Amino acid sequence: MIRKLVLSIIALTIIQIQSRADEGMWIPMLLQKYNIEQMQEMGFKLTAEDVYSVNQACLKDAVVIFGRGCTGELISDKGLIVTNHHCGYGQIQYHSSVENDYLTNGFWAMSQEEELVNPGLSVTFLKRMDDVTDAVLEGTTEGMEDKERNKVIAANIKAIKEEAVKDTHYKAVLKPFFHGNQYFLFVNEIYKDVRLVGAPPSAIGKFGGDTDNWMWPRHTGDFSMFRIYADKDNKPAEYSADNVPYKPGKHFSVSMKGVQEGDFTMVFGYPGSTYQYVPSYHLEMLTETVNPKLIDVRTEKLNIMNRYQEADPAVRIKYAAKNARISNSWKRWIGENRGLEILDAINKKQKQEEAFVKWAKVKAPEYVDLLSKYKSIYKDYANYNLTYGYYREMIRSNGMELVYLASQMEALKAIYEGEEVNEDAANAVKAKLVERAERFFKDYYKPLDKEISAQLLGMYASNIDKAFQPEIYTLINSKYKGNVEKYVDYLYKKSIFDDKDLVLDFINNFSSKSIKALEKDPAYVLNNSFETVYTDKVYPQLNKYRSELAVLNKDYMAAQMKFESDKVFYPDANFTLRVSYGQVKGYTARDAVYYKHSTSLEGIMEKDNPDIYDYRVPAKLKELYKNKDYGRYEVDGSVPVCFAATNHTTGGNSGSPVLNAEGHLIGINFDRAWEGVMSDLMFNPDQCRNISLDIRYVLFIVDKFAGAGYLLDEMTIVE
Ligand code: ARG
Ligand code: GLU
Repeated sequence: MIRKLVLSIIALTIIQIQSRADEGMWIPMLLQKYNIEQMQEMGFKLTAEDVYSVNQACLKDAVVIFGRGCTGELISDKGLIVTNHHCGYGQIQYHSSVENDYLTNGFWAMSQEEELVNPGLSVTFLKRMDDVTDAVLEGTTEGMEDKERNKVIAANIKAIKEEAVKDTHYKAVLKPFFHGNQYFLFVNEIYKDVRLVGAPPSAIGKFGGDTDNWMWPRHTGDFSMFRIYADKDNKPAEYSADNVPYKPGKHFSVSMKGVQEGDFTMVFGYPGSTYQYVPSYHLEMLTETVNPKLIDVRTEKLNIMNRYQEADPAVRIKYAAKNARISNSWKRWIGENRGLEILDAINKKQKQEEAFVKWAKVKAPEYVDLLSKYKSIYKDYANYNLTYGYYREMIRSNGMELVYLASQMEALKAIYEGEEVNEDAANAVKAKLVERAERFFKDYYKPLDKEISAQLLGMYASNIDKAFQPEIYTLINSKYKGNVEKYVDYLYKKSIFDDKDLVLDFINNFSSKSIKALEKDPAYVLNNSFETVYTDKVYPQLNKYRSELAVLNKDYMAAQMKFESDKVFYPDANFTLRVSYGQVKGYTARDAVYYKHSTSLEGIMEKDNPDIYDYRVPAKLKELYKNKDYGRYEVDGSVPVCFAATNHTTGGNSGSPVLNAEGHLIGINFDRAWEGVMSDLMFNPDQCRNISLDIRYVLFIVDKFAGAGYLLDEMTIVE
């Protein structure tokens, strides 16, 4: 009996430890101190040094920042890397044409000679990181004015970075952690010759499209492969035909062992940003003010886009990437609001805050008024933040496209307004703008843009404070009696920016004399009218609130760490390398609905529907299915596709390696499940799940579907 009791107590504490472990994005160099014991209790077989070390090759040497916002990992000693399809999307599209439509058909280099060069793409390795808090804060004192303090800090940061990479080809990055309570230096090495090796067709790589995005159960084969090239000394080099495949210090072994529910998982990558320590006022701002309005405006954009895209296949292609971009955050905001509400997150935060204030009154009087300070800032900040967000939706973030193109001419105008015109600079800007304009018109459809513009101008007027209405509305209200459609008719008739030839001509022949014409163009006028409001009325206030919040956030963070002094805190994500650990696990989504932890090819065939664009299964895959031609990838009569786990991840973790207890690659992270997308603000271990592609599906597609099995020969596959 006693033995039983002891055992169940042990079991209980293990469960408790495990459920706490899921939350958190941990700093690799501090695993030894905070995490490794717990990781090992959960099944991890490696040491902290195996994960991160400056003295020996370790797992971190096999992880890269892919491009600007994703993660990728090495899977061979010849520089082969894998990331998501949606991370390589830009490159796949870049190489695609009507004749060679790699988005639709996929692409596989059948030898290294066939790999495709990607101008502008780079991968970044972390060489080492250091806690430089003391050096950054040197010379600051208690009670120093914020302005003065920031100056000292900025100077220190500059010096530390310079010193760190002196006489090397490395790049230094220095970032605040815990809202400026700690600072870390990162020394990076950047490789710039990264070639496309292969990608499945979108019907696999983007299977389920935006319908399934942010959802579980999932069946997306979201991967693409690239290869890093280096010079003869294995050092970074610009593209050259003489470059050779990069020899990494470490590459991941690929596991064929698969996943069972409860297995240990570790995600090692670059989460972008989270907001775990904000006050309840921040959640109120998002759920009550900002998210609903931005969701509405994007809903309307998407309605219009979808309608035009459904009606015309050419428009569908032109707006595919734009639609995906708008839709991705739109859907996440909806899920975030839903998740926060179900969690009763505001209430939970308020309860914590009450307890915090009570504690501060007794133990830390200097923190007593932090929350009331927050309250008074958020009261107005929420509205400024919304206005700023809305403004971005109007013009910059896939809003009025014609107006955005007109706004790009500002750079030329600036050059020709000067006393003396630097012709070289002018020509460089012209070349860039010509390229931009050409790309713009390749994916432009005027009737769609026109309808969105009318919609946006109408929505802005009724959703944003009168105080922030640009001057242009005076014209709309007087001359066009408030009829935005009529105004938009005039705008698109009069402006030159809807006509490719006129625009290219205008750019190429731009001179000081063109400034007048530009200033008269109604699209330019419209942009200017919005810009003026923002420069004069919005930015200054917004920046003031932001710097006040930065100071408060720093203090509140420090205060929370004192308030809960026995808790181990992890820093908010800031696009630096982190470790999240958890386990493979299904979840209860809602009343009576339990989701299993993994999906298979059966689910792809269940979704197959030639009438729904997102669910068209390629013929070759159907054939493999019909013949059960699964080879070594067969598991229980099918092929595994994706799995869900409890790792705490966010945007930027896309493409991250998902590792098992041995540190072998079992999957590639690419999304989160609908019920848990509020995890950037509050984590719920019962429902927050990251979604990974099962590495065995990747191998199956490469080998059986694409016939590029030669790539498997360079991998280290563990059976
Ligand atoms: N939701 C995933 C992420 O945030 C996948 C995005 C891919 N884009 C899309 N619109 N389906 O990046
Ligand atoms: N798809 C996201 C990305 O591109 C990862 C999903 C998430 O936000 O967790 O990074």
